[in-house]
Amino acid sequence: MTDRYAVIGHPVAHSKSPEIHASFAAQTGQDIDYQRLLAPLDGFNQTVADFIAAGGRGANVTLPFKLEAFALATRLSARAQAAGAVNTLKFDGDAIFGDNTDGVGLVADIVRNAGVALAGRRILLLGAGGAARGVILPLLQQAPGELVLANRTAARAAALAQEFAAAGPIAASDFADLAGPFDIVINATAASLSAELPPVAPGVFGRAAFAYDLMYGKEPTVFMRFAAQHGAAVRDGLGMLVEQAAESFLLWRGVRPATAAVLAQLRLQLQTQ
Ligand code: ATR
Repeated sequence: MTDRYAVIGHPVAHSKSPEIHASFAAQTGQDIDYQRLLAPLDGFNQTVADFIAAGGRGANVTLPFKLEAFALATRLSARAQAAGAVNTLKFDGDAIFGDNTDGVGLVADIVRNAGVALAGRRILLLGAGGAARGVILPLLQQAPGELVLANRTAARAAALAQEFAAAGPIAASDFADLAGPFDIVINATAASLSAELPPVAPGVFGRAAFAYDLMYGKEPTVFMRFAAQHGAAVRDGLGMLVEQAAESFLLWRGVRPATAAVLAQLRLQLQTQ
């Protein structure tokens, strides 16, 4: 019988996960069925239970259910625990394993796809919400020289830095007091959603800096344009989307698919839509 997977969200119609996983399955010769599941806002747990009863083996979880997925899991990976959120579920009998592949997906896109090493580098992470929290542990696991968090509400960045202090060299700073330059600047704020720029000074971008926005779209984000104007090489989050999917696929199927062709195809679609 074909193993069933799904992406669960609300809304979910826009999700590119079904086509990404269909490409991975074709490439690796795995027989899987991957669908979109729209869960009612008050019905995430029931949707998961129904899907398991119908033979579901695993699921990706997207907005706004990543915290509910975290609460529902009977076992959590260390990186899901650190993220406080789950984007990947694996079902095994009564057990529900919760993982979070967003952070390793970001790291894979920066290190492997963009060819930018993180070890020993000064990294600035903008934001202190769920997206930022989700990538801190995988970034620290790359042994950066320093990871500095900056957030509009400074106290949230300070609290996060304190929480992860044992995991590596992490500090918090006000936007106004940021002591640049940095080698790598990652925008994990929601500012790009409303075409706004986080209040960073141009001086944060070091010589040959690399700037990454977790968001993606047809056009470069405001942050990417600003970074490029100040000499940085820029990249959006489309590769992170593909890499987090590859990590989920690995968890479910035991094989990590190649991602370059899938990413190129998505980029083409995005630019021609
Ligand atoms: P997410 O899950 O996307 O991280 P979130 O938890 O609501 O969403 O967090 C949004 C993040 O984007 C926060 O760090 C927020 O800053 P505050 O903590 O000060 O609210 C940040 N953010 C949103 N809009 C922003 C803007 N226009 N400029 C700078 N930061 C912004």
